[in-house]
Amino acid sequence: MCGIIGITSNKPVSASIINSLRKLEYRGYDSAGIATLSNGFINEVKTEGRVDKLEKNVSLKNLEGVVGIGHVRWATHGVPNTVNAHPHSSENVSVVHNGIIENSTLLKKYLLNKGYKFKSQTDTEVIVHLISENLKELNLVDAITKTLKQLIGSFALGIIFKDEPDLIVGARRGSPLAVGYGPNENYLGSDSYALKSMTNKITYLDDGEFCIIKKDQTEFFNEKGVKVNKKVLELSSNEENYGKGDYKHFMAKEIEEQPTTIKNCIKEYIDNANKEINIYNFPWDIKDISSITLIGCGTAYHSCLMAKYWFEELTSLDVNIDIASEFRYRKNRFKKDGLYIFVSQSGETADTYAALELCNKNDLKTCSVVNVVESSIARDSNFVLPIHCGPEIGVASTKAFLGQLMVLYLLALKIGNLDKTLSLDIYKDKITSIQKLPKLINETLSFDNKVQIISKTFNEAKGSMFLGRGFSFPIALEGALKLKELSYVHAEGYPAGEMKHGPLALIEEGMPVVVLAPRDNYYRKTISNMQEVIARGAKVLLITNKSKDEVIPENIWETIEVESADDDLLPFLLTIPLQKLAYYSALNNGYDIDKPRNLAKSVTVE
Ligand code: G6P
Repeated sequence: MCGIIGITSNKPVSASIINSLRKLEYRGYDSAGIATLSNGFINEVKTEGRVDKLEKNVSLKNLEGVVGIGHVRWATHGVPNTVNAHPHSSENVSVVHNGIIENSTLLKKYLLNKGYKFKSQTDTEVIVHLISENLKELNLVDAITKTLKQLIGSFALGIIFKDEPDLIVGARRGSPLAVGYGPNENYLGSDSYALKSMTNKITYLDDGEFCIIKKDQTEFFNEKGVKVNKKVLELSSNEENYGKGDYKHFMAKEIEEQPTTIKNCIKEYIDNANKEINIYNFPWDIKDISSITLIGCGTAYHSCLMAKYWFEELTSLDVNIDIASEFRYRKNRFKKDGLYIFVSQSGETADTYAALELCNKNDLKTCSVVNVVESSIARDSNFVLPIHCGPEIGVASTKAFLGQLMVLYLLALKIGNLDKTLSLDIYKDKITSIQKLPKLINETLSFDNKVQIISKTFNEAKGSMFLGRGFSFPIALEGALKLKELSYVHAEGYPAGEMKHGPLALIEEGMPVVVLAPRDNYYRKTISNMQEVIARGAKVLLITNKSKDEVIPENIWETIEVESADDDLLPFLLTIPLQKLAYYSALNNGYDIDKPRNLAKSVTVE
């Protein structure tokens, strides 16, 4: 959440900072700002709104300087306006900040007593004055060490100083931060995605560390202010030019890419010739694992829920799932023979990361399912299963969801094979079926016209419901979340069998209800629940799969039939029309599809 960039160079930096901020905009986009050092002054330009607006203001001001910091914001303290936008600067110090300073009220009181003046409503401004105060008596390294000690909370910081015209300080606690190395310049970034267009040589700061970067030198320090040596990593550079292509929105592109991304993912894990799933270097003996706990947030949590159904069906493991923000603070009964799986597209979500840290501290077996393999969650888990989807830029997750499902399904099959829940024949048959999935997904992508017409009803309604049973229930939750995120209309996902215990009271004449009823074991039961909502006036959009045997019941408003596949694989296909429904509902209203209001892609605050 929020994006930081810093550049120290031998040439002007404002244009490069703006370019990098554009790449970071998916992390926050309610306001943006930049500060550079030139002619012995800190110069700052800030704006509410997007980086495009910031760029205009920067060029108006002709912002000079070879050292600078920039920020895109997702507001935590203080409304998203120009004053609260970062950087926050005094005459001597300018700071960009991701995260939350929990003791900011106390620190503000202390600083007000010392005569410091505050301009914004943010928690960040205390850092600016605290540094100035500490610099009165201490050298740079000691002043930073002391300041960081005084802060409670989570942060990634980028700091420039009027009296240190050639350097940037970066600091990390909780929120990720990386240093990048370029020719005659060095960089600071809140993730490697922003730095990748400039360099593939990166060092990640560990928790508690800070750094001082100059154009030709970098130094790293631990929380005591003692110098530490850090490794330089070389990242693969093939993702740096990921753009929208001919699509209007990243989301549209990312939905359409799914046959390819799933194909890539399958290729990484399946040995087609031998009909075998390869999970190389899995560090544990499966006999030592008796349960798994899957943890995530948002869409990633829905992947965990989906995986629960598969693991229970295909393996003999005990399966638990948890929302990371709940798991991290509960009194958990940790299981030494349990495997803890953390699911996260970005690999940076603060709550998921904290849940992982908790498990690591308790010496548990940790594994992550991530898209960004250089992320904090990937780096700090014992074992990583990448989903191989390529960058996902649209804030609402689409292709990463299917990628997470695929990796979790493959893991369930592999464990089911190893623990002998699955016979060899069934295991091999299921692998054969998976191979057909990319083609089936491709064929399911063709409902645009129909979905676009249907979507208007969802825009006009007071709210809608998404119902499913069994394998379709997690997909119903995901469908409702997508619609909420993108079109700002109320949508509720529910197990179809639970409607009669309360939510049925919401159904009124003309309310759109999506019923996910593929022809699986639950079909008849779900259809009965569907009749109950139709009887109360609902307009039902039935999403099922093609079948020769079953006739579509009467009184249904609209029907979409996806391709047929093994029951296990139907969730992949049912997801596609729901993604499109959300996309078109947002498009109808002219909303910003890739950057929905109030949201951000990488949620690095708790
Ligand atoms: C944000 C995004 C969601 C995403 C969730 C978890 O809320 O908007 O699309 O599902 O974070 O993100 P992660 O990167 O951990 O999968």
